[in-house]
Amino acid sequence: MKSVTISATTKAFSLECSDIAPDKSISHRCAMFSLLSDKPSKIKNFLLGEDTLASLSIAEQLGASIKRNGGDVEITPPTKLSEPSNILDCGNAGTGMRLYAGLLSGIEGSFILTGDKYLRSRPMNRVTIPLRNIGAKIDGRENGNLAPLAIRGGDLKSFKYASPIDSAQIKSALILAALQADDSSLYKEELLSRDHTERMLSGMGAKITLQSDGWIKIDPLTQPLNPLNITVPADPSSGFFFAVAAAIIPNASTVIKNVTLNPTRIEAYKILEKMGANISYLEKENIYEPIGDIKISYNGKLSSVTVENNIAWLIDELPALSIAMSVAKGTSLVKNAKELRVKESDRINTVLTGLNACGVTTIEHEDGYEIMGGTLNSATINSYGDHRIAMSFAIAGLLAEMQIEDTQCIDTSFPNFFDILSQITQIKD
Ligand code: S3P
Repeated sequence: MKSVTISATTKAFSLECSDIAPDKSISHRCAMFSLLSDKPSKIKNFLLGEDTLASLSIAEQLGASIKRNGGDVEITPPTKLSEPSNILDCGNAGTGMRLYAGLLSGIEGSFILTGDKYLRSRPMNRVTIPLRNIGAKIDGRENGNLAPLAIRGGDLKSFKYASPIDSAQIKSALILAALQADDSSLYKEELLSRDHTERMLSGMGAKITLQSDGWIKIDPLTQPLNPLNITVPADPSSGFFFAVAAAIIPNASTVIKNVTLNPTRIEAYKILEKMGANISYLEKENIYEPIGDIKISYNGKLSSVTVENNIAWLIDELPALSIAMSVAKGTSLVKNAKELRVKESDRINTVLTGLNACGVTTIEHEDGYEIMGGTLNSATINSYGDHRIAMSFAIAGLLAEMQIEDTQCIDTSFPNFFDILSQITQIKD
């Protein structure tokens, strides 16, 4: 298990990041959606993280031919997706497993989806139940809840489904199934979750419309989609670690270049702004979604905040936001965030365990937590194999030396994280 020590620093920095990891959600979708075309898709700046490379490898096992030169990827789909001769390994990626479950449910053949020990303990019935209800044949441990999942693809019925959870993974799995169903389908969620799937598939020619009554209407495909031609923007969830760094170190600033400014993805920056950081957004282009730069500057001690709305829009950033809360003035509160318990780790538990090790007082609730802001003490932090826990506490290390155990998981989403962090402080193996 690789462990790393981050040294505290008081040195103001001004970081211009044009190498934040490419967006993970969009990269997964590039690998999968290119299979729905009959022409080669050209993707620039594909995320070379373990999770997204696993999705790319699955596309290859399904018959796509892939040419890759660094982050430049060309995916040529097969005329017909083929039954793979081996199991399909999604690594640590919930997105990979849930979206592929939706896609493969409608494809003739037998498919086994598996993943690492963490992914194999995460709930899959949120997709397997609605997929089974439209005719998918899926089995797995705990009656289809736990991977490995065995899928026998076949005919799917159209549906009308209101999801009890605001989740882009569930929505995307159901949209991918709906594209293969026998008639138009309807899907609804309470808060619009990240909408890369709708934007990208519509851009490729699929008929997916958000109706005025809040239902998303998906028409089945009548012909192959147009190929993708895309440069993946930087990942705002990865950039957010360096946003928090700038917000907590006096006189520091970070510019995150060429990042998606999709409103469903930048809510955490809005919260950091509410806590007192100076933040500005500069939109530069719009390719499937708005893309531009975000500048974050230190603006004095942060204030506490209550976070209870739009949780699906900042679910991935709550661990890093919790580091900001732990040094803010007053008590911060996170509510309605039960979903944190079923991420790469139980993040309510792993965030609070880490903060308590740093001497921060917290109160745990079933659907969130309270953090009494104060100072952070040096500590040894277990990441529990969760990339966002490892990176959040590495940023806390800027204020008090932190030894982070089990940092290998960072490679799932942000392989050059420590290269960027080393521009601000010292890192010892
Ligand atoms: C993702 C959706 C989110 C997010 C995950 C990536 C996606 O999960 O936490 O990191 O790419 O669709 P849920 O939509 O299930 O909350």
